Amino acid sequence: MLKEILVIAMAGTLTLGTAFAEQTKDTVTIHAGKTAANNGQEMYATYCAPCHGVDGKGHGPAASALRLLPPDLTVLSKNNNGKFPGSHLMTVLQFGSEMPSHGSAQMPIWGPILGTMNRTNPQEKQLRMSNLSRYLETIQIK
Ligand code: HEC
Repeated sequence: MLKEILVIAMAGTLTLGTAFAEQTKDTVTIHAGKTAANNGQEMYATYCAPCHGVDGKGHGPAASALRLLPPDLTVLSKNNNGKFPGSHLMTVLQFGSEMPSHGSAQMPIWGPILGTMNRTNPQEKQLRMSNLSRYLETIQIK
């Protein structure tokens, strides 16, 4: 059955540690709680781990509700001749996944969500994306 993905950005209204993935019949809800823009690991744990798993291997608690399994994010470098695909990652974060299999993509488009987290600082979105990218680089397997 088609599951709809709902990402709720509540930056500023939630305290840390309140992010969770909640699964109802047809909807996967990821609560995008508040995180520090300079903490890639915290952003990963809050926004990505529900699907991609804390270890990045794709077995997060919400993964089973998706039509398409989230890919293993620890092999991005390995699958790219040992080089971390930083610009690919930024594109996926900004515009969404380039490989939606059938129908709509199963991966939220993060750019607009990260962009609403601090309206007084338009640069923050870029900072968040590059810190997320840097964190992912640290969990790559050789
Ligand atoms: C609702 C579940 C979900 C969440 C939350 C999620 N992803 Fe994904 N992600 C997926 C799925 C499913 C795919 C593969 C299917 C697709 O491309 O649409 C994917 C694909 C990707 C890809 C593409 C991998 C490749 O080889 O091209 C990257 C990179 C990625 N996600 C990173 C992230 C990051 C970083 C976050 C957190 C900011 C995140 N994802 C949050 C479900 C999710």
